[in-house]
Amino acid sequence: MIHNVGIIGSGTMGSGIAQVAATSGCKVKLYDLEQSVLEKAKGSLEKVLNRLIEKGKIDANEKSRIQNNISYITNLEELSDSDLVIEAIVENPDIKKKVFSKLENLVSASCILATNTSSLSIASIAASLEKPERFIGIHFFNPAPLMELVEVIPAIQTSQEIINKSVEIIRGWGKTVAVAKDTPGFIVNRVARPFYGEAMRIYEEGIADVGIIDASVKQLGGFKMGPFELMDFIGHDVNYTVTETVFTAFCAG
Ligand code: NAI
Repeated sequence: MIHNVGIIGSGTMGSGIAQVAATSGCKVKLYDLEQSVLEKAKGSLEKVLNRLIEKGKIDANEKSRIQNNISYITNLEELSDSDLVIEAIVENPDIKKKVFSKLENLVSASCILATNTSSLSIASIAASLEKPERFIGIHFFNPAPLMELVEVIPAIQTSQEIINKSVEIIRGWGKTVAVAKDTPGFIVNRVARPFYGEAMRIYEEGIADVGIIDASVKQLGGFKMGPFELMDFIGHDVNYTVTETVFTAFCAG
């Protein structure tokens, strides 16, 4: 349905989303500020694909096909032929808005613009654009190639056509879509706040140490990762910002 996908930010999420899109046959351009960062993403993908070969999940031809579907760029203008651009840079609304305002003048009128933000208001980013109706949240979870769920979050300004197209694209990439309202934390990150917060309280109150809390949640609760392990995995910068955004929206003042 779409062919050319641009991804902005080649960190944890951007490189994972690039792998998902490339595996599904899209031509992906992965953009970041510096070549050295892109080289790191390229090296990580090589390792991930080698592990998949070792596990017998893909063969060498499939590895080359996926790698050949991704090009690594530091010039934003090269995204001009994109059908869809997903932004996955630092969780900062002003920086995201700046990137989108540059981008919207480069791409065609039919290009879908999406953010992978974990918690920021989709409507407020959309409001900074000339054509807010083509803007949407497409929220992958970490690690994007393994996590089946993707939240699709329309802003109040997003057109129904863009919502339908986005859902169809993400389903086409083999994911399960939950369409969520544009509220702080959407579904998963809102539900997850007490998961981390209560774990920290339990530790603070001296009820149990980090290892025991993680092990209890995994062994007794059947979770794949404990709260502290998961916070380390997500990155404390991202997790703290999400908590702050949800707190400010619901509790502050
Ligand atoms: P990261 O720190 O791993 O990667 C961010 C990348 O963006 C870096 O490579 C950086 O060089 C690049 N970047 C920063 N400013 C840029 C700019 N102005 N233009 C182009 N590239 C720029 O961050 P991560 O963890 O991948 O998060 C990215 C986004 O995804 C955030 O909005 C975060 O909230 C969201 N997210 C993160 C998840 C996680 O578990 N880490 C899960 C789901 C969403």
